[in-house]
Amino acid sequence: MESTATDSEAIAFRAEKLTKTYGSGEATVHALRGVDLEVPSGEMVVLLGPSGSGKSTLLNILGGLDSPTSGRVFFGRRELTAFDDRHLTLFRREHVGFVFQFYNLIPSLTARENVALVTEISKNPMRPEEALRLVGLEQRMEHFPAQLSGGEQQRVAIARAIAKQPNVLFCDEPTGALDSKTGIVVLEAIARANRELDTTTMIITHNAGIADMADRVLYMADGRIQRSERHPEPCAPDQLSW
Ligand SMILES: Nc1ncnc2c1ncn2[C@@H]1O[C@H](COP(=O)(O)OP(=O)(O)O)[C@@H](O)[C@H]1O
Ligand SMILES: [Mg+2]
Repeated sequence: MESTATDSEAIAFRAEKLTKTYGSGEATVHALRGVDLEVPSGEMVVLLGPSGSGKSTLLNILGGLDSPTSGRVFFGRRELTAFDDRHLTLFRREHVGFVFQFYNLIPSLTARENVALVTEISKNPMRPEEALRLVGLEQRMEHFPAQLSGGEQQRVAIARAIAKQPNVLFCDEPTGALDSKTGIVVLEAIARANRELDTTTMIITHNAGIADMADRVLYMADGRIQRSERHPEPCAPDQLSW
């Protein structure tokens, strides 16, 4: 696979020959069939592919939420796949932000308090107010999730994910539950975190239109990366044709 990085310091993460199988015997599912990948620091990557092609499995393994059946994952120079559970937990807590399709906010806490839950256990967090400002919610900090729209709730989830200043941000179908206009506002919040915090970012989507905002697009099919494409001039989220 092509690489623009000149030394391993500039690589955010790298996967070598990753496989993942679920089940056994006749029920075996090959979710990943040998994935090699190198993502330079600070890149915005969009991962496209049909349902069941292995996108979430790959992202969960790269983020230390799951482990591969075989193969190795490196985070910078450190091998994630050699970590025990405790070190994986510490790794995720310190370095990785996750955003999922559903926001998983705590209903009884305000936007600010939802973000503060994470900043309180982080090593080098920004203030919750600052994270909420980055996603354009400075006016909504004292609102509860039920008082916010779906797009606003997702932006709280993004603020929560970036507040610890993670090295990498993994987003699995972050706009999957949103209409296009709201989705674009959410993607703008993700793009801003990538730009202003230099957070290496990977977005899973099955909306091919979103690929135009990426530095690099990976196409997955049947447990493999079929193709990798670089965009020298990615477009701003508000220019996407959804
Ligand atoms: N926990 C699991 N147990 C069994 N099969 C799974 C599990 N997670 C994913 N799979 C299977 O692995 C394949 C890839 O799934 P996934 O990574 O979720 O794909 P995608 O995110 O591209 O839709 C699918 O066939 C899916 O059914
Ligand atoms: Mg998925």
